Amino acid sequence: MQAAQSGGVDGIAADCGGSLTCATCHVMVREPWASQLPPPGADELAMLEFTSELRQPNSRLSCQIQLTEALDGLTVDLPASQY
Ligand code: FES
Repeated sequence: MQAAQSGGVDGIAADCGGSLTCATCHVMVREPWASQLPPPGADELAMLEFTSELRQPNSRLSCQIQLTEALDGLTVDLPASQY
C-alpha cells in the first residue's frame, strides 16, 4: 500500500493508514504473485468482508502485503471503487 501510494498509483485510498480498520486498500493480486503471499491473517480475513467491491479469491488488503525481492514485479488489479 505504501509503495503504491508513494509511486502515485491511484485507487488505493487506505483511509486508516495501514492499521487494518478500513478495507479501502483492497487489491486483487495477479498470479504468480498471489500464490507466493503468506495467507491472510484472521484480522485481514475479517476486514476483507467489508470491501466495497465483492471479494475475489485473490483479494488482499494491500497494507498487509510486505514487499520482498521475491515479489518484484507484483501486479494487482484495483476495484472500480474503494467506497
Ligand atoms: S489501509 Fe486500511 S485496511 Fe489497509
